[in-house]
Amino acid sequence: MKILTFGQTGQLANALKCTQPDTIELIQLTRQQVDITQSQLIYEALAHYRPDIIINCAAYTDVERAESNTTQVMQTNVDAVRFITHVARQLGIRFIQLSTDYVFNGCSPTPYSVSQIPSAINVYGHSKLLAENVILQQQSNQFCIVRTSWLYHHSGKNFVSTMLHLMSQTSEALPSINIVNDQTGSPTLAEGLAHFLWKLCLQNHWSPIYHWSDAGMCTWYEFAQEIQSQAFALGLISSKVPLIPVTSQAYHSRVKRPAFSVLDTKASHSIFKPKPWQQQLAQYLYSCSLIKK
Ligand SMILES: NC(=O)c1ccc[n+]([C@@H]2O[C@H](COP(=O)([O-])OP(=O)(O)OC[C@H]3O[C@@H](n4cnc5c(N)ncnc54)[C@H](OP(=O)(O)O)[C@@H]3O)[C@@H](O)[C@H]2O)c1
Repeated sequence: MKILTFGQTGQLANALKCTQPDTIELIQLTRQQVDITQSQLIYEALAHYRPDIIINCAAYTDVERAESNTTQVMQTNVDAVRFITHVARQLGIRFIQLSTDYVFNGCSPTPYSVSQIPSAINVYGHSKLLAENVILQQQSNQFCIVRTSWLYHHSGKNFVSTMLHLMSQTSEALPSINIVNDQTGSPTLAEGLAHFLWKLCLQNHWSPIYHWSDAGMCTWYEFAQEIQSQAFALGLISSKVPLIPVTSQAYHSRVKRPAFSVLDTKASHSIFKPKPWQQQLAQYLYSCSLIKK
């Protein structure tokens, strides 16, 4: 089976590369090879490689900058997806589009199921929701959306890498760290998502939407506490800096983020069962400790 991904340098693309099964031929295209805002380049690549499945790992993912870069966000996250969909349909290629928990407004008291109506509250979430609608309009079991949340991988700048960096500062340089404690979600180790996607590729027919994250939920503050405790135990950091729980309001971000964006992943468990987020974090930090040695 031949799989093609756009966005070769990203976290998920790297995780797919690291977990690639022997039976899969994986073609990964960099932005330099195919800038997905250039529709002609998309067409030429797909017509040339003729993959069985496209997994679109490319996206404008900087949630903060998205607020002031709407044109670029829409071109990358919506227009490109529309064109990939168009060419995929024309050439008979199956297509998996990655999406996000940020398509939800965060007002639900319980995890979001795939059938719940999304309503985004920031530019990034809105753009990903528009892309979802492009896929859903196809009404094809050869196209699907995989929503995920709080993704992290060694190759990327993410919450875990940022925390490890901050927690390695001296207490004079950084006496404490303020962490938002009123946003709840589910961390996702990118390798776990990659394993799920490989299993999904083997299914002949897809549901319109899948949810995937590691099992369980936490606030960013609780996530940071767990990172610190595990990293300290592994010797990745030499001391513990005080972590201060703060509200989103006190954090002064210009982006609204959902207060609760946990995805209900139960419907995906028959394909691949997620592990608890703490266990996935332990695997990630253990490999960090091996790299450090
Ligand atoms: N990160 C998260 O917490 C999170 C959460 C939920 C959902 N998701 C979704 O999961 C998917 C994968 O996320 P990720 O964290 O792996 O993303 P990422 O690490 O930010 O990588 C994004 C990739 O997209 C590429 N890209 C951006 N604009 C492009 C363009 N015009 N043409 C070609 N490539 C372009 C980037 O290339 P350059 O290196 O050249 O910039 C990079 O390779 C995305 O759809 C994202 O929306 C992510």
